[in-house]
Amino acid sequence: MSTATLELESKRYSLPVVQGTEGEVGIDITRLRKQSGAISMDPGFGNTGSCTSSITFIDGEAGILRYRGYAIEELAEKASFVEVMYLLIYGSLPVRAELDVFTQHLTKHTLLHEDMKKFYEGFPPGAQPMAVLSSMVSSLSTYYPDPEQDEYNIFRLLAKLKTIAALSYKKSIGQPYMYPRNDLDFVSDFLQMMFAVPSEPYVISSVAHQALDMLLILHADHEQNCSTSTVRMVGSSGADLFSTISSGICALSGPLHGGANTAVVDMLGAIAADGADYSKYIRKAKDRNDPFRLMGFGHRVYKNYDPRAKLIKNAADRVLEQLGRTDPLLDIAKDLERVALEDEYFIERRLFPNLDFYSGIIYRAMGLPTTMFTVLFAIGRLPGWIAHWKEMHDGKGRLHRPRQLYVGSNLRPYVPIGDR
Ligand code: SDX
Repeated sequence: MSTATLELESKRYSLPVVQGTEGEVGIDITRLRKQSGAISMDPGFGNTGSCTSSITFIDGEAGILRYRGYAIEELAEKASFVEVMYLLIYGSLPVRAELDVFTQHLTKHTLLHEDMKKFYEGFPPGAQPMAVLSSMVSSLSTYYPDPEQDEYNIFRLLAKLKTIAALSYKKSIGQPYMYPRNDLDFVSDFLQMMFAVPSEPYVISSVAHQALDMLLILHADHEQNCSTSTVRMVGSSGADLFSTISSGICALSGPLHGGANTAVVDMLGAIAADGADYSKYIRKAKDRNDPFRLMGFGHRVYKNYDPRAKLIKNAADRVLEQLGRTDPLLDIAKDLERVALEDEYFIERRLFPNLDFYSGIIYRAMGLPTTMFTVLFAIGRLPGWIAHWKEMHDGKGRLHRPRQLYVGSNLRPYVPIGDR
């Protein structure tokens, strides 16, 4: 193994260099503080690897994304979301018998304990769906407290999250809850829980089914993003699976992360209401004195077109056409993208559309309310969170405890209040 040499105050330290299977290089500073007394500094962790992982590979410069070695483009076109859940969590594509057993587990565990329905009565009207989601997921640990059951708790969580999401949507619009149905596949069951009503038969749109299955695949994992790193951080303390995933949901809700898909549609709506004057918003995005950012643009890792955004943009055209709908926001989004990608500010900073720029257009076409967009992101990202939680616990995961550089006051004596 090669080494890197650090020279600090005329002393030299030799640090091991580690290499990933795709040629990525890391400098192992595990013993840096012990050897030199110094720590590294990397606010936002843009240059810091927190772990090794075999789950997802991203090459941000080349716009490559693979789950367990499979290209996202192939999985989006050929796999189902349930297959991808299995792949991420257990490391290989399931053979037929494995997929059948896994599907049975996901079907059998969709119901919530009847007492959990009472929790929804306590939330105020208009309660933020991500706050409801994280609360309900965290409360699952009161019904399934035994960590020895974690193999089944994984099935319970994968199966119940969409039930929790659908019930919170039905509560928010005052419609009766639709119970899960064991005769339907994962996506069909979610769609019927969301949109069916007892008074009339519900026909599941194959267009909506195919689009949602693909969107869930595209959201399923993305290595050490903010919410997945949160899951690893909280999980490293030994917190139970449900509490750990609840923390990931909270991190995902932020507008700079999973909340961006909602913020994009709000932004496009504001531009539409402002006479579709998207040049004005490009100017605002470039103005360092203006806090406005082009939501759905830019990425910490991708300095090329997010491969997921490409797939979603093509699907948006297809879904609208197949559903016989148009959406002025899609036209504004495309104009915004075209102008931005020709603008020096965005080119110089390598800012491209990310996963969130077009996804909301498809959700709208399917009749999903803006408030549910990030909840859909959470349903997609759940297998990724679980895969990382499992990988950490299957390995010798240590408690995560970063260091800091103290820049506060030096020692000073207490001053009685009368003398201040
Ligand atoms: C997701 O990490 C993941 O993998 C996340 C995700 C996943 O699958 O889990 O891919 C999902 O969260 C996608 C990102 C969704 N968020 C947004 O779309 C919000 C808008 N985007 C930005 O807030 C921003 O691009 C971030 C937060 C996504 C990334 O920010 P960084 O890496 O911290 O970059 P930065 O803030 O250092 O920006 C570098 C420069 C700055 O300008 P200068 O100071 O150099 O002059 O680019 C500018 C920024 O002002 N910039 C933008 C911009 N994004 C960055 N300017 C205008 N509009 C933007 N969107």
